[in-house]
Amino acid sequence: MKKITKAVFPVGGMGTRFLPATKSIPKEMLPIIDKPLIQYAVEEAIEAGITTLIFITSASKHAISDHFDPKPLLREKFFKEGKQHLLDKLHTIPNEITRVFVPQGEPLGLGHAVLQAKEIVGDEYFAVILADDFIKPNGNNATSQLIKAAIEKNTSIISVEQVDNERVSQYGIVDIGEAVGSINEIQTIVEKPKLADAPSNLGVIGRYVLSPEIFDLLETTQSDKGGEIQLTDALAQLLHKPKNLYAATLDAKRYDCGHKLGYVQATIDCALEDVQIGNKVSNFIKQL
Ligand code: UTP
Repeated sequence: MKKITKAVFPVGGMGTRFLPATKSIPKEMLPIIDKPLIQYAVEEAIEAGITTLIFITSASKHAISDHFDPKPLLREKFFKEGKQHLLDKLHTIPNEITRVFVPQGEPLGLGHAVLQAKEIVGDEYFAVILADDFIKPNGNNATSQLIKAAIEKNTSIISVEQVDNERVSQYGIVDIGEAVGSINEIQTIVEKPKLADAPSNLGVIGRYVLSPEIFDLLETTQSDKGGEIQLTDALAQLLHKPKNLYAATLDAKRYDCGHKLGYVQATIDCALEDVQIGNKVSNFIKQL
């Protein structure tokens, strides 16, 4: 497997669970304290060696390209005023990193979003990072862990985590049989099963390393009842040959920031660790 240097960030979803905040901004622009979810995800990718960032964006929301714009006027102002701490805050993507924005057109599902990256990814393995699955930066980079696992197995690999019974029907769920260690071959994968039909509680979370084979599979994947092309359905087709799709349990603290509870939990966790406000937040929570 060649070095993995491209990452796809699908940010074209409707974010209905966060309306009205997501009327004009993608949910990936919601901040944890003072930094948008998408920026955490981009920093994780760059730290993991990714050099091409491919954003699959909603045609009607431009906040993400605006966010990563170099902001020359503001930069000049802070420079003239000698405000280095503010200049540092403007720094987001180093110049040597390529960024590409591909409009999704219509929000026809995660699988459809990933398919839009086909031409730019070409014939290489690539990462997919869902920024609304916030992984707390803790020194053990989640995307690096997954890339390492993909190289070790020389195939596609997706990250999984135990999910509570009441949330099983909101996830892609995998069956890995009897687990040996943290990386296991997937036997079956199903999108949002009823708890009674679920093969396990192992839910797919928002970090993937995929073979370019996935694009051909996505092209022939039928839309579901809701009119969306599901990535999970294309992943299921990867199982047509053995050792073609693995699941990895990462050493990572993840919050599902696509829904309110996960977002608030992530915010509290990060606020408690913030050097400027952590103690005050802790005192505030105790006195509530
Ligand atoms: P979700 O399943 O969370 O859907 O998408 P959503 O539309 O964003 O949010 P809700 O369910 O309406 O609240 C998972 C990831 O896939 C992206 C989203 O932006 C998110 O990162 N996505 C989803 C797309 O890029 N395009 C789509 O058509 C759907």
